[in-house]
Amino acid sequence: MKYFINTMGCKLNENDSEKIAGMLIEMGYEETTSPLDANIVVFNTCCIRENAEEKLFGKLGELKNIKAKNNMIICVGGCMSQEEHVVEKIKQSYNYVDVIFGTHNLHKLPEMIQNRIEENKKQIDVWDIDGIIVEDLPMKRTSEKNALVTIMYGCNNFCSYCIVPYTRGRERSRKPEDILKEVRELASKGYKEIMLLGQNVNSYNGGENYNFSNLLRDIDKIEGIDIVRFMSPHPKDFTDDVIDAIAESKSVCKVIHLPLQSGSSNVLKLMNRKYTKEHYLNLVEKIRAKVPGVSFTTDIIVGFPGETEEDFEDTLDVVRKVDFEQVFMFIYSVRKGTVAERMDGHIPEETKSTRFNRLKELADSMTAESIKKYVGTVQKVLVEGESKTNPDVLTGRTRSNKIVNFVGDKNLIGKEVDIEITSEHVWYLKGNVVID
Ligand code: SAH
Ligand code: SF4
Ligand code: F3S
Repeated sequence: MKYFINTMGCKLNENDSEKIAGMLIEMGYEETTSPLDANIVVFNTCCIRENAEEKLFGKLGELKNIKAKNNMIICVGGCMSQEEHVVEKIKQSYNYVDVIFGTHNLHKLPEMIQNRIEENKKQIDVWDIDGIIVEDLPMKRTSEKNALVTIMYGCNNFCSYCIVPYTRGRERSRKPEDILKEVRELASKGYKEIMLLGQNVNSYNGGENYNFSNLLRDIDKIEGIDIVRFMSPHPKDFTDDVIDAIAESKSVCKVIHLPLQSGSSNVLKLMNRKYTKEHYLNLVEKIRAKVPGVSFTTDIIVGFPGETEEDFEDTLDVVRKVDFEQVFMFIYSVRKGTVAERMDGHIPEETKSTRFNRLKELADSMTAESIKKYVGTVQKVLVEGESKTNPDVLTGRTRSNKIVNFVGDKNLIGKEVDIEITSEHVWYLKGNVVID
């Protein structure tokens, strides 16, 4: 009996899929790489932007005819299941879906599948209360090199464009001891790199006098974990103690993902982000002063309701000033039930896409420029394996996440080595192993 999971969302969603896979394996299923020969297909959905919905319905449609052949059980979970109109649509138009579960009752999936089999009845159970935190679920990790570690669930920020607070509920933090236990286990299994996940990691609350900075410091002490990344911090909650913890740690990566969303204080106010352009730029300067060599990546939304040409220019201005390593760009997408849905001044599609292209042009040229500074430097590179296109070449990533290709012995795979960078090729670097 085989399972196939289609993960459609963010890193948190990916980590949930690792738990779903763990539970299915415990039930006796094996993984398969195609839905066509699977007995259980799970869609772990995302609804952060509009196109996600069409994607799910298209895929459900594709399975309609092969379902009977494999005696297939189709399950839909994740963020879309938390939306009432989606559940209604599945019930009406895709009534061959067997199980619908939500983000708060993921741990109930095995029981729901079992009930579906025994009672031969559709199972729909979506909770709208904040789920309890269930520790020690089995997990089948997708990568053997870098592991995802969720430290908190939910979001309290209600940025006016965003659906996440509605689909993931209020903030709940895992206990520090549970997180540290997981990280120690990862280290003992040979993991070198971890990514700490939460919608707003800076509001991690591990109890009295234990915040995100304490967690970073405690993780830094764990032997074997060389690289710690985190996603995402919110600029409004980036406190000095977190900056100090980053500066003083050996393992915390000196590339920080710091979502900007917009460079205009007017738009930021409409977005309910609770910071201004100046606050963001000051924060970047403050971090730069304390963390030598730090660089930044960001998320930007283009075409938010009410965004004027001047507002958009402010965004370009911040992009130029901060000199991001990478900018993840999104065209604003209306989400049902959010505050921004009801705002005036929605931007025509054409203007949105023109602005998107202008931003992309600027960001691409800056990325191309920023990679040049690596040439001639020595970088710590975690070696991931052979290059896909040439088995004689090894490939790895710098601590700042840049791909580096070099010739080296295969026993370097899994280790962090010093590489002198000799040339840049826009999307990757080439170099030589430093022999000391
Ligand atoms: N918690 C994270 C973001 C999670 S969503 C944070 O606050 O940064 C990932 C990204 O999707 C966001 O940073 C935002 O840039 C984008 N996004 C969220 N809602 C969107 C919407 N309605 N339209 C377009 N992009 C959106
Ligand atoms: Fe969405 Fe804002 Fe929460 Fe991020 S912080 S998940 S953008 S509401
Ligand atoms: Fe998508 Fe839900 Fe993540 S909406 S981005 S899967 S939290």
